[in-house]
Amino acid sequence: MTSRIIGTGSCLPETVVTNDDLSAIVDTSDEWISSRTGIRERRLAKEETTTSLSLEAAKRALADAGVSSKELDLIVVGTLTGDYITPSAACEVQAGLGAVNATAFDINAACSGFMFGLHMVNAYIRAGMCRTALVIGAETLSRILDWSDRSTCVLFGDGAGAAVVQAQERGLIAFDQGSDGERGACLACRGRTNNNPLVQTDKTYGYVQMDGQEVYKFAVTTVPQSIRRVLENAGTEAEDVSYYLLHQANLRIIQSVAKRLKLEPERFPVSLDHCGNISAASVPILLDEVNRKGMLHRGDKIVLSGFGGGLTWGTSLLEW
Ligand code: ACO
Repeated sequence: MTSRIIGTGSCLPETVVTNDDLSAIVDTSDEWISSRTGIRERRLAKEETTTSLSLEAAKRALADAGVSSKELDLIVVGTLTGDYITPSAACEVQAGLGAVNATAFDINAACSGFMFGLHMVNAYIRAGMCRTALVIGAETLSRILDWSDRSTCVLFGDGAGAAVVQAQERGLIAFDQGSDGERGACLACRGRTNNNPLVQTDKTYGYVQMDGQEVYKFAVTTVPQSIRRVLENAGTEAEDVSYYLLHQANLRIIQSVAKRLKLEPERFPVSLDHCGNISAASVPILLDEVNRKGMLHRGDKIVLSGFGGGLTWGTSLLEW
């Protein structure tokens, strides 16, 4: 028994923000952003929330799968920007869907959140604890960015992607995942100030901070290694995989991974040009786009790979 993705959905906020729009906020340019990252525009939430984007993505994924919310027995949301500390985004989604038979919780693995969620659901399925699950990656990163820091605020966007996963004979073939907490500081968001009257704390810097070059080095070495491990474990040749759907951090990272695997860039679809980097939501949004374009056929092999804060990484080889 393994896990098969039987439906996908995604949702982006209404508001489009171009690179030129950002150059009115910080000292940047379309030329700098697009040549360094491949990003041309992103969607930013105004009215939307992590919950509302997740809920819409979930409804679209359930409709695509032909599954009712009552059939769900597990909902996992990968996010670092849930609307509340509690209830979790997953519980909010459960309530919105009326998925009364599901257990629901969030996980925080930053940009690997969807992949870790998928692997966790697979473990539940293999243990017989679950039959039909919803895995969501969702973020409103705009809430945790420093909008005066041009080195980070131009990179990210908001949105949600979802997949319905079911216990079946074919689907997930092999996976790899890992973490390196020693290097966590190169991509951090330290969070809230401590309000405890017994504790004296400095004002905490609550926005995303990044050492871009360290993250770049991590990504271009760890991601190809992780993909190679998965292919090796499955006895699959890199050329036998139709598409490699990578976390959409940066076009140069994706091109470098393709080159290191000696694969043509056409096997690496992108959504970052119009979405930017949406952390945990990047992989499921890209998967949904590729699925809806009719690029996936039953029996095709695809690789999904997420990597980012923690540091963390997770890769799956799937039969579609
Ligand atoms: N517009 C204009 N100039 C900028 C901007 C901007 N938005 N941001 C930085 N600069 C300037 C810097 O101030 C610096 O100027 P200086 O030379 O006068 O000091 C110059 O551009 C070069 O800055 P670097 O940080 O060295 O730029 P670099 O070439 O490394 O590119 C980038 C930055 C694109 C982030 C790169 O490091 C990278 O690709 N990193 C990968 C990490 C990544 O993509 N992270 C995304 C989130 S993490 C994740 O999802 C895994």
